[in-house]
Amino acid sequence: MDINSAIRERRSIRQFKKETVSEKIIQDILETARWAPSWGNTQPWEIYVITGETLENFRRENRQKTLEGIPPTPEVEMPQTWPELLKKRYVGIGKSVLTSLSIPREDKHARLQYSADMASLFGAPCLLLLCVDKAIPISYAFLDVGLVLQTICLSACDKGLGTCILAASVNYPQILRRLINIPSNKTIVIGAAIGSPDTSAPVNKFERERAPLNEFVTWIK
Ligand SMILES: Cc1cc2nc3c(=O)[nH]c(=O)nc-3n(C[C@H](O)[C@H](O)[C@H](O)COP(=O)(O)O)c2cc1C
Repeated sequence: MDINSAIRERRSIRQFKKETVSEKIIQDILETARWAPSWGNTQPWEIYVITGETLENFRRENRQKTLEGIPPTPEVEMPQTWPELLKKRYVGIGKSVLTSLSIPREDKHARLQYSADMASLFGAPCLLLLCVDKAIPISYAFLDVGLVLQTICLSACDKGLGTCILAASVNYPQILRRLINIPSNKTIVIGAAIGSPDTSAPVNKFERERAPLNEFVTWIK
């Protein structure tokens, strides 16, 4: 797959097939992703590849906490308010997802079940968890983590796999810290589900939107 196709065809996958992904493919994706740029070549990312029983335990517990409506406590705080234009965009993607799943906005029960499915990683057989050392200001490390994460997603796409970067996977870091031995001097930044996409699922097929260049590009000539 050429680079342009990978960038255009990658999309967030919100329904995965049950089949497992071979360790070899994940290894190959990470081999590629380690060539992502980072400040001073520091490569601050530390990545846990979680599968098997640990993943199933995490999926169950993360789902349960979501269903109970426990307020999230991510280690990297999520903003509570957004500028209007950005809010319009995230409300837009929320609508597209719910419409593709035929969930009416007012159906609170179905929406909660959907959030629980998200917390269960949409059935993905693998979670990549990205952490960084607490010695680095998270605002700065974010650049590098974002770069390696996008490289992972593109490489996965190139191999026919789907990914979904998931804030919902790090809402309850205490679950992850209990199940996995993550050193206390590391911050859990973000997770990404990875697996075979269910390409027939409407939630993986709806048309996505992007702002036109004139909304965010200023040329200075
Ligand atoms: C930092 C970050 C966190 C995200 N968290 C979630 C999430 O919790 N649930 C979800 O369904 N999608 C999540 N996404 C996916 C975005 O919604 C998605 O990238 C965006 O809508 C653009 O769509 P696309 O990835 O299909 O191009 C996240 C993306 C990023 C970059």
